[in-house]
Amino acid sequence: MAGQIVAVVSQKGGAGKTTVVMQVAGGLAERSRPFAIADLDPQESAMRWSELSAAAGTRIPVAHSVEGADAAVQLRDLAKTAGLVLADCPPSIEHPNTLAALEVADLVLVPVVPSPTDLWSTRAVEKLILQVQERRKTLKAYLLPNRVLRTRLAGEIVDFMHEFTLPVVSAALAQRNAFAESALIGGSVFQLGRAADSAQEEVRGLVRALLKELETKKK
Ligand SMILES: Nc1ncnc2c1ncn2[C@@H]1O[C@H](COP(=O)(O)OP(=O)(O)O)[C@@H](O)[C@H]1O
Ligand SMILES: [Mg+2]
Repeated sequence: MAGQIVAVVSQKGGAGKTTVVMQVAGGLAERSRPFAIADLDPQESAMRWSELSAAAGTRIPVAHSVEGADAAVQLRDLAKTAGLVLADCPPSIEHPNTLAALEVADLVLVPVVPSPTDLWSTRAVEKLILQVQERRKTLKAYLLPNRVLRTRLAGEIVDFMHEFTLPVVSAALAQRNAFAESALIGGSVFQLGRAADSAQEEVRGLVRALLKELETKKK
């Protein structure tokens, strides 16, 4: 089995890449699904977050630092042993680590905060992904609305996201303190108990959508 690779990519920092990786990690751990985390961002926030999570006794494994000329090979090797790899990428589509992840990914998730500047920078990410998809027809890629506010404006921007060429995944994360809080304590929203019910449900929805996509071939 070659295993599968999910790359979380965006052009800007702050879109929620590391948050998405770590919350999905928490959701996979809750399902006892084996996986590994690859940290391709030189800032190593997934590495630090996962070290904290492991120390806090969660079932989230410590991330593997992946970089250098053979980053793509390292990701493939990790996928072979772990079965599923969540790859947290640097906040730049020009970074060689991001390009390496796109070359070997089965699925790309692009977290997008529904604000005008994030939407603009997402156009550039989308362009790159569409180019890669020209060569790699089996590559799936989805936008993931993150930090969604329940206001009319945000609703309109989420509608607008449907105008991108890339599809929007059938899940979203709202703007919630629980997502930021879980980084401080180490772990995911599943370590926050009942108080984080809504956040947990959102992450479960995202994990379900992700696993379903990984089970099906691109049409
Ligand atoms: N859905 C969310 N609700 C609340 N805060 C969020 C959410 N997603 C991300 N954040 C916060 O936004 C900041 C940037 O998120 P992060 O995951 O580090 O982004 P990136 O890895 O893309 O740079 C962090 O402080 C994080 O806690
Ligand atoms: Mg990050």
